[in-house]
Amino acid sequence: MSHPSPTPLAGRRSGALKGRVRVPGDKSISHRALIFGALAVGKTLVSGLLEGEDVLNTGKAMRALGATVERTGEGQWRVHGVGVGGFREPAGVLDFGNSATGCRLVMGAVAGCPITATFDGDASLRKRPMKRILDPVALIGARAVSETDGGRLPVTLQGARDPIPIVYRTPVPSAQVKSAVLLAGLAAPGATTVIESEASRDHTERLLMHFGAQVTVEPDGAHGRKITLTGEPELAPAPVVVPADPSSAAFPMVAALIVPGSEVVLTDVMTNPLRTGLITTLREMGADIETLNVRGGVGEELADFRVRASALKGVDVPAARAPSMIDEYPVLAVAAAFADGTTRMRGLKELRVKESDRLAAVAEGLRLNGVAVEIEGDDLIVHGNGRAPGGGQVATHMDHRIAMSFLVMGLASDKPVGVDDTSFIATSFPSYVAMMRSLGADLA
Ligand code: S3P
Repeated sequence: MSHPSPTPLAGRRSGALKGRVRVPGDKSISHRALIFGALAVGKTLVSGLLEGEDVLNTGKAMRALGATVERTGEGQWRVHGVGVGGFREPAGVLDFGNSATGCRLVMGAVAGCPITATFDGDASLRKRPMKRILDPVALIGARAVSETDGGRLPVTLQGARDPIPIVYRTPVPSAQVKSAVLLAGLAAPGATTVIESEASRDHTERLLMHFGAQVTVEPDGAHGRKITLTGEPELAPAPVVVPADPSSAAFPMVAALIVPGSEVVLTDVMTNPLRTGLITTLREMGADIETLNVRGGVGEELADFRVRASALKGVDVPAARAPSMIDEYPVLAVAAAFADGTTRMRGLKELRVKESDRLAAVAEGLRLNGVAVEIEGDDLIVHGNGRAPGGGQVATHMDHRIAMSFLVMGLASDKPVGVDDTSFIATSFPSYVAMMRSLGADLA
């Protein structure tokens, strides 16, 4: 998907934010619902799908690989799958736009099939490391026929004719790597095991079980897990109801905390404990976030959250928490700018290889808006003093979360905070600007 013209916007000091909103469906689950639907035999119904560009690109890739993917209503999708190992060779390049999740998960799924496919993406995705997928899928029997600059896109991958089940310890804490190995392992005879030293989001494991695969999960060390999948299952279609994305809810949540007098209710938010590190951290900072109406969803729990403007204080965020809030550091850094005292966010190495180098982009954006910030090794340190001057123009670097975070910053800063391009927000949260305005945010 191309983004021809940058769309600048500014967040301006706003009156109290008020209202009740449901942010769009979870991005991680939306990608997986389409991929697992395509790997099941028969018809899978998905509701609440995130209709952002990233997920739509995964849907196109599933079509190119032989599945039927149809939209039947708002957020309602029907997938006719081809079964494990049943992908056909795509006629053209698979273009994942801005999305590493779509690209890496589909690489895993293709790695277990006897087909060849070329993977590509936009300028941001072309910078991101794919070796972390190409290495394990090579052990399974797939081969990168061509790649760019030591494991960058475009990559042409030849899937394994006879996939080999492996035991793999992920070298980086990454749900994408874990998921790619498990997806490739679906087509291998026998047990495929992934060991991770830090537990990462487990939506792949949950959905595999939901679709009838045999998966066991055991603890491994203090924070890790060992996941074993029995290969060659027949995946049975199962309806997927996608809860609201906690990573998207993070933006109105922090906005409500920092704009004086605000009270916002966020509904249907997924509360998977491997995704809620931000809420834990904000509560440690003194945030008034009330959990309402916890309930079981399909395969995941959800709840509503009432968020009230709060006086925040600086905290130390342990590195072990990073996987459970990896996408939330940009907006946490904004909250930290409005807190009293220093917030140290530890162990953020992975932030350097997201949609942008988020460690650098966040530090630069805060500095431009008059906030004292340092990077020490892989730690981000923000010195808050309860208010932020603002007045800066932030470069988003093709990164939706940088754009959304700095627009939030502007809502409580003395002067507006500008972002140079909001077009990438459409990758994950197309209704962001309208929804924030409906709460009273001044975005102009
Ligand atoms: C995701 C995993 C995370 C996260 C991304 C979504 C997923 O990436 O940053 O937005 O759906 O598996 P890593 O696995 O690279 O940490």
